[in-house]
Amino acid sequence: MSPIDGAEVAKHSSKNDCWIVLDSKAYDVTSFLSEHPGGAAIILKNAGSDATEEFKKYHPLSYVDDYLPKDAFLGPVDPNTFGQLRQTKDETSQKPSHTDPNAKELPHVSLCVSTPDFEAAAKAVLPHKSYIYASCSANTGASLKRNLDDWSRVTFRPRVMRNVGQVDTRRRIFGHSSPYPFYISPMGTMGAIHEGAEPEMVRGAVRKGIHSVMSTASTKSSEQIMQTYHDEQKRLGGASPTQLFYQYYMPVDHTKAVELIRLVKRCGYKGLWITVDTPVLGKRTADRYLQAEEALAVGLEEESTAEWEAGGDNAFAPAMGGRPVQGQLSPHTTWQDLEWIRKEWDGPLVLKGVQCAEDARLAMDYGCDGILLSNHGGRQLHTAPSALMTLLEIRTYCPDVLSKLEVFLDGGLLDGNDVLKALCLGATAVGVGRPFLYALGAYGSKGVERCVDVLADELQTGMSLLGITSLDQCRPDMVNTRRLLNDMWRPEEGSVRSKL
Ligand SMILES: Cc1cc2nc3c(=O)[nH]c(=O)nc-3n(C[C@H](O)[C@H](O)[C@H](O)COP(=O)(O)O)c2cc1C
Repeated sequence: MSPIDGAEVAKHSSKNDCWIVLDSKAYDVTSFLSEHPGGAAIILKNAGSDATEEFKKYHPLSYVDDYLPKDAFLGPVDPNTFGQLRQTKDETSQKPSHTDPNAKELPHVSLCVSTPDFEAAAKAVLPHKSYIYASCSANTGASLKRNLDDWSRVTFRPRVMRNVGQVDTRRRIFGHSSPYPFYISPMGTMGAIHEGAEPEMVRGAVRKGIHSVMSTASTKSSEQIMQTYHDEQKRLGGASPTQLFYQYYMPVDHTKAVELIRLVKRCGYKGLWITVDTPVLGKRTADRYLQAEEALAVGLEEESTAEWEAGGDNAFAPAMGGRPVQGQLSPHTTWQDLEWIRKEWDGPLVLKGVQCAEDARLAMDYGCDGILLSNHGGRQLHTAPSALMTLLEIRTYCPDVLSKLEVFLDGGLLDGNDVLKALCLGATAVGVGRPFLYALGAYGSKGVERCVDVLADELQTGMSLLGITSLDQCRPDMVNTRRLLNDMWRPEEGSVRSKL
C-alpha cells in the first residue's frame, strides 16, 4: 500500500468526505460520523488533520481496530508530508491543564476539607468540556438530585457512652481487605479529566489501599492500567491491600465480548462488574448543549439533531427508536447472557445498576455474587430511584438477598457518614464516583489521596458519634428511614410478593 500524501488527506475535511490521521495512518471516517458516541463535531473539527493526540485523551489507540469499520483504513501517511495536513487550532480550552491562563487559581489541596471542595476546585481549573463530562446528568437532573437528597433523608439514631475512642473502619470486598468500606467507582475516559488518566487515579488508590473498579471505557488499555497498579505496588514494597476490579460493558459483537472477558482475566482483575443500566446512553443534557455548540462551530447548523442521531443506514436504528447501536453498549443483553459469562468468568460477578427488588432477586437466582444498586450517578434513566431507595425495597421485599450477596450502593455520596447509613442498612461497601474524579482533575493522584482522607475522617468521627467501634456493629435500628419509606413503591396486594 503506497503512502498517502498529507496534502491529499487535508482535502477531505467536510462532513460528506471526512478523513483523519491516527497513529500515522489515514482513515475515511465519513460513514462513522453519525455513529460516534461523542458526536460528529469533535471528529469534524479534526477532519483532514492528525487527530492522534485528541483521540488519545478519550480512548486507547486499539479502539481504532475495534470500532472503525475495516474499510475505513486508507493507508499509511508519508511521514515527509505531515506538515501538509490540515492544521487544527490548538485550543487551550480542550486541554486539561492547570497552566491555562484563563483558569482560575487552584486552591491549595489542604483547603479541600469536604468532598464538594474538590468539585469547586475542578470547576475552577478544568476545561469547560471536561467539567461538563464529569458533572452532567440525565434529562432535567432529577435522578442526580434524588441521589444527593436521599442520603440526608435518612438520619441516625446514635447511642451514647459506649467507649468509642478507637474505631476500626476495615471492610472486605469479596475477601479482599480494605481500610475503608468505600471504593472508587468506574468512570470512563479519565484522560479528558487529567493527562495521567486512569494510571494517575490508580496510583492514588494504591497509596491509600482502597479498591477501585476500572471502566471498560477507560482512556488507557486494561493492560496499561494493571501495569501501573503493579508498578505502584512494587514501589510500595507490595504493602497496599488495593485490588482492581473490572467494569464490563458487554460489546455488541459476541466474539469481542468473549475476548474482552478473557483479557480481563489474563490481566488479573479480581472481579467483573457488569453494567446493566446502560443498554443505550441516557440523555446527557449538558453534553447535548455542548455537542450542539460544537456542531454549529464546524458548520453543522443545517443538520437537525434527529438526522444525526438516526444513525443513517444503521440497521438497528428503527428498533432503537432512531438511536444507533454503539459498539460499546449492547441493548440486546438479557439475563440469559449471564449463563455464557459465568462459563467464561469464574471470579466474583456483580451486576452494576440494579434498581428494583425483582432484579435483585433475579441476580441472585442467576448466580451473581454481588449487586450494585446504582442509577449510574443519575446519568441514565430520568427519575430513577436512588440506590438507598432500592436498598429499602430489597429490605422490604427480598431481604434474603442481603445475606446471600455482597450488596454495594453508589450515587451522590458526598460524606463519610453516608457510607455508615448504607452499611447500617445491610450494604457491604459503597462506591464513590465524581468526588474522586474531581479530585483527580484538580490535583492528580494527590487529590485522590486527599479525597480518601476526607471521607475516612468523616467516617471515623461518624462511627464514634454513632456509638460503634467496628463496622460489624452497624445495625438497621441505628438509622431512621421513615421519610424514605413513606415514598417507597408498594405493590398491589400480593402481586409482586409472589414474584419475589
Ligand atoms: C464521568 C463519569 C463517567 C462514568 N463512566 C462510567 C463507566 O464507564 N462505566 C460505568 O459502569 N459507570 C460509569 N459511571 C457511573 C459510576 O460508575 C457511578 O455509578 C456513579 O458515578 C456514582 O455516582 P457519583 O458520581 O454521584 O458518586 C460514570 C460516572 C461519571 C460521573
